[in-house]
Amino acid sequence: MSEPVLKIDHLTMQFGGVVAVDDFSMVVNPGELVALIGPNGAGKTTAFNAVTGVYTPTAGTITLLGHNITGLRPDQITGMGIARTFQNIRLFSSMTVFENVLTAHHLRRTSNLLSATFRLNGAEERQMRKDTEELLRRVDLWDLKDEMATSLPYGKQRLLEIVRALATKPKLLLLDEPAAGMNPQETDELGDFIRRIRDEFDLSIFIIEHHMNLVMRISDRIYVIEFGRQIAEGIPEEIQNNQAVIDAYLGGGDEL
Ligand SMILES: Nc1ncnc2c1ncn2[C@@H]1O[C@H](COP(=O)(O)OP(=O)(O)OP(=O)(O)O)[C@@H](O)[C@H]1O
Ligand SMILES: [Mg+2]
Repeated sequence: MSEPVLKIDHLTMQFGGVVAVDDFSMVVNPGELVALIGPNGAGKTTAFNAVTGVYTPTAGTITLLGHNITGLRPDQITGMGIARTFQNIRLFSSMTVFENVLTAHHLRRTSNLLSATFRLNGAEERQMRKDTEELLRRVDLWDLKDEMATSLPYGKQRLLEIVRALATKPKLLLLDEPAAGMNPQETDELGDFIRRIRDEFDLSIFIIEHHMNLVMRISDRIYVIEFGRQIAEGIPEEIQNNQAVIDAYLGGGDEL
């Protein structure tokens, strides 16, 4: 068996008296699409923030393809092959679709927006424009390249965020509630899109999502946390029938 892409061992993340993530362990294997679910405030985004270097874990280790990345800075972690999207949409609103993706290519090179903009030579700039075009064509967004990002329908804006994350050529993609605010049709499209990029870009994907139909349809495996602790792990069918999971969601007033 090949080594996991992501391995989280005994992660604890504490903010003052609040233990947001409590001794949580998990793996994402190569090519796997793994979901992290749990009621509001369960610690899901905090786990992502620890993986991506936004927070330094209180305890525990995070390993990417055998390399210990615990405590590295976000830009170092991006450089090692982890990309993410955020729970709330974060596009450059005054830029076109093309410019949003081009800027992500720039950031991959220098991790600094200003130096990226001013120090590039002509050949590098042309190459990035070519890469941007290739990526937008691969994901069928090329026709929208000159649209302002914020003028796109909401569902397309969320797809564009994912495409921008792909520009950093990740091995592992973290998606924090990509279906939030989407209508049923957009959610279906998103599910197909996530499966497709996983296959076509050779990715492993770790997704936080409240939309249970989507989670059950696309995930290979699911981890469930409540109050920062794992309460279940398994394939979608096992999770749907797990009493602790049903109780956690009913208790929180959420629907499973
Ligand atoms: N920077 C912080 N400082 C203090 N407390 C925090 C911080 N970040 C998160 N928390 C707390 O940690 C807990 C887990 O929050 P987190 O955002 O990880 O939950 P979540 O599972 O992503 O929830 P949701 O589904 O609502 O997005 C919450 O009690 C939250 O208030
Ligand atoms: Mg969250």
